[in-house]
Amino acid sequence: MPFAHITGTGSAVPERILDNAGLEQIVDTSDEWITRRTGIKERRIAMVDKNETTAALGALAARRAMQMAGVSADQIDTIITGTVSADRIFPSAACMIQKEIEAFNAAAYDISAGCSGFMYALDIANNNIKAGMSKTCLVIGAERLTTLVNWKDRGTCVLLGDGAGAAILQNRAEPGGILSTHIKSDGRYWDLLYSDSGNDPPPELLKGLASVPFHLKMEGNRLFKQAVSSMAGIAETALVQNGLTREDIQLVIPHQANLRIIQAVAEKLKIPMDRFFTNVHKYGNTSSASIPLAMDEANRSSRINHGDIVLLVSFGAGLTWGATLLKWAATNPG
Ligand code: UT7
Repeated sequence: MPFAHITGTGSAVPERILDNAGLEQIVDTSDEWITRRTGIKERRIAMVDKNETTAALGALAARRAMQMAGVSADQIDTIITGTVSADRIFPSAACMIQKEIEAFNAAAYDISAGCSGFMYALDIANNNIKAGMSKTCLVIGAERLTTLVNWKDRGTCVLLGDGAGAAILQNRAEPGGILSTHIKSDGRYWDLLYSDSGNDPPPELLKGLASVPFHLKMEGNRLFKQAVSSMAGIAETALVQNGLTREDIQLVIPHQANLRIIQAVAEKLKIPMDRFFTNVHKYGNTSSASIPLAMDEANRSSRINHGDIVLLVSFGAGLTWGATLLKWAATNPG
């Protein structure tokens, strides 16, 4: 049975930075509160006049991953995009990305699994490669969450940001790459985080931001607790299934929703924080994009090295959560 190796990673974020001081001008909040409660200092905001669509960000991240993997567009047989903020209800972001990167030999589709979209997409890609149905798969997490934000709700608008990350998965005979994937959901709690109707235009400071007639609603406290127990639980499952212990893990790349959630997961797993990769201070919560964005940054800054055991772990709306355990193979920074 072939193994699915990650042979390239890429990411892309919008140019515009909105820092906590900028948010103080939009809602009744403070840099002190946001930093203390979430660890977030700034986030990126996609702008219409710069054509920073979900598809454009996803395509840019994809091109960077393809370049690192040395993979041409016509080699890609599958494109799977995890997203909850595709530019249109249909067609899929994946099909719009396919056009941008000219990967016309691929089947392209989206996965809607909240912030676990990339983890669900990895699960499908890994299974397809193992089953011999796919040889070269492009997996993307791309979001423009700021289009869904209620800019009058300080409980949510300070948390979210835009961006995209991508990975090329290829079939290889040598063992390694993805060791296992684990995905779970519990629809009983869908109403802890969902999109509702609402169409307030963004405030003056955010002129040029796209907005759609939906708003994100969230029950933060209850989600926080679910996030910690679900992520810690599924990480344990991944370790046990592979006969590994926490000492075997070189790096954990968790979903970047809140630094306090990551710290609580670290405490529960008894893995020190210096083995967790975080960039939530720069990007906020970018939903499906958060793990591939962090993975690309960790890869390009040599926080992940050949042979490392890496744990990816996510949590999001649905509720959904997931983990992927990897034995990292060296990638060529390109
Ligand atoms: O991506 C996956 C899904 N998302 C998550 O997993 C997010 C999980 N939840 C969280 O990260 C946290 O619950 C939040 C960051 C959303 C909120 O932090 P918290 O420590 O749970 O705060 P809280 O909601 O309990 O609010 C505490 C206080 C409240 O004031 P009172 O009632 O104590 O007077 C809020 O009104 O903080 C107030 N507050 C704010 N103050 C200043 C809430 N948002 C803000 C704000 N600025 N932006």
